[in-house]
Parts: sequence; C-alpha cells; structure tokens
Amino acid sequence: MSEIGARLAELKELGLYRRTRLVSGPQGPNVVLDGQPVLLLCSNNYLGFADHEKVQQAAAEAALRWGVGAGSSRLVSGTMTIHGRLEKRLAAFKGTQTALLFGSGYLANLGVVGALSGAGEVVFSDELNHASIIDGCRLSRADTFIYRHNDVEHLAWGLKQAAGRGSLIVTESVFSMDGDVAPLEEIADLARRFGVRLVVDEAHGTGCLGPGGRGAVADASLEGVIGAVVGTLGKALGSYGAYVACAEDVAALLVNSARSLIFSTAPPPPAVAGALAALELLEEQPRRVERLQANASVLRAELAREGFDVAGSSTQIVPIIVGDASTAMRVCEAALERGVFAQAIRPPTVPPGTSRLRLAVMATHTKEELREAARVLGHAALQAGFRPATAMPVAVAQEHARPGAPLASAPPPRHADAA
Ligand SMILES: Cc1ncc(COP(=O)(O)O)c(C=O)c1O
Repeated sequence: MSEIGARLAELKELGLYRRTRLVSGPQGPNVVLDGQPVLLLCSNNYLGFADHEKVQQAAAEAALRWGVGAGSSRLVSGTMTIHGRLEKRLAAFKGTQTALLFGSGYLANLGVVGALSGAGEVVFSDELNHASIIDGCRLSRADTFIYRHNDVEHLAWGLKQAAGRGSLIVTESVFSMDGDVAPLEEIADLARRFGVRLVVDEAHGTGCLGPGGRGAVADASLEGVIGAVVGTLGKALGSYGAYVACAEDVAALLVNSARSLIFSTAPPPPAVAGALAALELLEEQPRRVERLQANASVLRAELAREGFDVAGSSTQIVPIIVGDASTAMRVCEAALERGVFAQAIRPPTVPPGTSRLRLAVMATHTKEELREAARVLGHAALQAGFRPATAMPVAVAQEHARPGAPLASAPPPRHADAA
C-alpha cells in the first residue's frame, strides 16, 4: 500500500475519514443533499441571507458592474470602490474607526495574529480557538500560552508568568463548536490591566447576538475598546470574505504587514456587494436576529426533552457531544436516513473524545421543523447506540494548558471542516 493509501486507511480505521457532500441549489432550511431532500441543520447561513433575493441581486449586479474578480491583491489594483463602501459600512456597524476587508476569516485571523505579535512575545489563546487563530499563532513565531476554555483565572496566571512579554490575547466571542460565549468584559479588563492588545473573533457573533445583531462585543458594551474585532462575511452575512474592525493605526499596520492581505487577491466584487446588501437588510430587519435566537431556544428545549445535554450552548450553535468519533458518524448517518442533516465534527476540529453533531439553527427554519429535527435526532442516537447520559463535558482542557505548566506552544490545529 502507498504511503497515502496507508494514511487514508488509518483515518478510516479511527472513524476520522472525511469526504465532501454535494448540495444542489442554495443554502436554505431544506436542501437536496447527494440527491436526497433533507432539513439542513449545519449551515452557517444563520439569517438566510445567502439565498435572499436582494442579496443575490446585489451580487449579480456587482458582477456586471465591477466584474467577477478583483484582479489583484488589495495593495496592487484590487481595492475597488465597492470594497471601500463595505469597509465604511462595517466600521459604522461595529463602532470602530475603520474596517479592512480580507479574503476570508481564515486569512483575517492569520494576518491579524501574525501582524500584531512576533518572536520573543507571548500570545494568549483560548484552548478552543479556531484553527485559523492557532495557525496565526504559529505564523507569528511568538510563544503561545493556551489558557483553559473561558478560564480568566488561568489567563491572568499566564499573563503574570509572561512578565511583560505578552502582546496579544485572542478569543472567539461565540465559540464555533460549542455555542458558548466568552466572558469578554473580564478578558478585556485583564487586557487593559496587563497592557496587552485584545483580538476578538466574532465569526459566529456578528448578526446573531447583541443589539441589532452587532455581536457579542456590542452586547458587552466594548465597541471601540477591543484592539481588533475579526468577522467573516461567510456566515450570518451570507457571502464570502472577512473583515477586521479596528482603529486607523492598527489597520495601517495590517496593510503594511499582514501577509494574508498583502499576498492574496482581494475579495471578489459580487461577494462584497452581496455582503453589503446583507448588512443593509440586517439593519432594516433586526427582527431576523430575534427570530434566530427564538429558533435556537426552541431547538435547545426540544433536544433537552429528548434527553440531550445542551446546557453549554446559549446561542444558535448547539452541539450534541457524543464522544467517540465513529459513534458520532453513526448518529449523523442515522439522522440523514430520516431526513435531517447535522454534520458530525471530529478531531482535529474538536479535542479528542468530544466528537459531536454541531447543529446550527437558521432564522429561516420553522419551529415545527426544529421540533421534528429534535425527535429525529433522538431516534438517531438510539439507533446508533448512543445514550446521551454518557456524553463528555463540553470543554475538555488540553493536557499542556494546566496552571503551573510552562508557557506552551499551540495545540495541533483543529481543521475547520464543516464550519
Ligand atoms: C471562529 C471562526 N473563525 C474564523 C473562521 C474562518 O472564517 P471563513 O470561513 O470566512 O474563512 C471560522 C469558520 O470556519 C470560524 O468558525
């Protein structure tokens, strides 16, 4: 067997083999998946903008007016008037001096962490941070202190240990695989006390919580206080691309040193115009956010009735923690047979032993669809031999992130497979 064949066989043996599935048509609450009609319960199209007529129209018109591609990187000729318009609008929405568009959230995190920290410094990173943040830490060449999930005491301990070498604290606001929210006020307070910059990734916060869907940072009244707020256009805003909302001087530094901005083609005009239309709709129709939150409450309550422990989530992301990777896959396939698609998420996306079904609610689901989905998942769990009572706790500390440990390097990247 070839080396590649052996590696693939090992992944299959461990229940970690992945493949893509084909969705026909746009991302809506109901899709055709590999030829089978299913309820879609794992898309980040939270507010239904990816398939919204006005957003589609704006993208189509932009393709005709500005072309399909930006043609070059932002620093050569790729920054077009449509990019400038969205940046202004995003800055106003996020309450910052300016905003800077990147090709994707992955590239934004890579660029921001890499630009705001360097060799000899220390980055403080939550143990459940997204792979793009972990990779940013690696690229920065800084030492990384991984603090236990949402544990401000552990973070404070690490900040003291760093003895002035700290450059950056970085956390997600809404955690992508757990659906819980970081204690932003306490983290911001530590950042201020220790004179360290704070970066918050609002990939799953923007459009989903806070006043008018402005995110968890706005919810905690921290607008304009955070060093840099990262957000993606690819989730609640229904498009593709990302932004960093920050002060003018931080943006200037990013333009001059964020490698993922400098060395990559600017976001395509249709995607930018689509996100702009989505942002306008969000500001016109804040009730969509309320609908999303109400739907999330319904799903959590219905899953609890089925015996699932979903208390760790307070948002539109609701994980059913199964534990073992193969069992998680079996639950996923059993649910699919009954017409519900909730992708199983396995290591390295999540820590070993915490494989799960990551459910993502949309504002466009009906409450009846969500009730029925909970029932289907209950049956699927039984069929796959998974009893919810045996589930693992949501947050599992990484071995190298215990108090008393020396400043450690980042854990293996968790690849964003379904996110
Ligand atoms: C927390 C978090 N940050 C960043 C990203 C990357 O965003 P994008 O999909 O725009 O690359 C994701 C999505 O997978 C995410 O979940």
